[in-house]
Amino acid sequence: MDRGFLFGDGIYEVFPVYNGLILGLESHLQRLQEGLDAINIVNPYDKKKWTSIINELITYHQENSEQAIYLQVSRGCDDDRKHTHGKLKPTIYMQSSPFKSPTKSDLLKGSAAITRTDIRWSQCDTKTTSLLANIMFAQEAKNHSVEEVILIREGIVTECSSSNLFLVKNNCIYTHPKGPYILPGITREIIIDCAKYCDIKVEEIAFNKESLMVADEVWISSSTREVVPIVCIDDRLINNGKVGETWSVIYDSYQATKSIRV
Ligand code: PDD
Repeated sequence: MDRGFLFGDGIYEVFPVYNGLILGLESHLQRLQEGLDAINIVNPYDKKKWTSIINELITYHQENSEQAIYLQVSRGCDDDRKHTHGKLKPTIYMQSSPFKSPTKSDLLKGSAAITRTDIRWSQCDTKTTSLLANIMFAQEAKNHSVEEVILIREGIVTECSSSNLFLVKNNCIYTHPKGPYILPGITREIIIDCAKYCDIKVEEIAFNKESLMVADEVWISSSTREVVPIVCIDDRLINNGKVGETWSVIYDSYQATKSIRV
């Protein structure tokens, strides 16, 4: 009778862990809080308590230098399956999975993507466990042997099935602004910080598919994939299929950030 199982009524987070240190801990916990607030689940723990439980789980898996901590808070169990609910005790589920961040030489080969209409709801900034549209897109990417599905809503490029999207044009980085149509990715935020640190201009503005197809560079980002260059979209090459220089600078800066920032 858990509403997470019956309705996907819950919020989740994925924390990347490098050598025992959680990258972006505070930002992930803040986004968890905002997600729970958005769907009226009372956060069962404060940030201090979450930090200690997550760290305890990390220590059980010390043999993995890189871990992805999945954390889910569902609204809890009811006594019947009904759409409405009363006051319930949230259910917490956590797991640690080993992950392998891609090497630069692997990434330099470049990845491919396809575009699809973004059919998701208008509250994509809530990191809900209801991911049906996202998983259908992800499966489509897998079936087409590409890295991602790039989503387009009313002509505007929003994000991807499980990552944010960036393009580079004339040495400026563009990404969709925060709001109801994208998940405010923590990796996205770190990349924006890296760009500022490297003196590269960033514009958080909407752009269309035409701009995407003539971009100098396109990348996607997420906590477990970091920042992946896309060199082919819908079977058309971006920048003649070559990974760009700006990506390389941001990739290096992101790697440096991993070792100093928690
Ligand atoms: N997904 N957009 C969507 C729709 C996502 O599902 C994700 C992450 C991101 C990137 O967010 P972040 O940089 O905070 O990881 C953007 C996670 C990794 C997942 O569902 O497993």
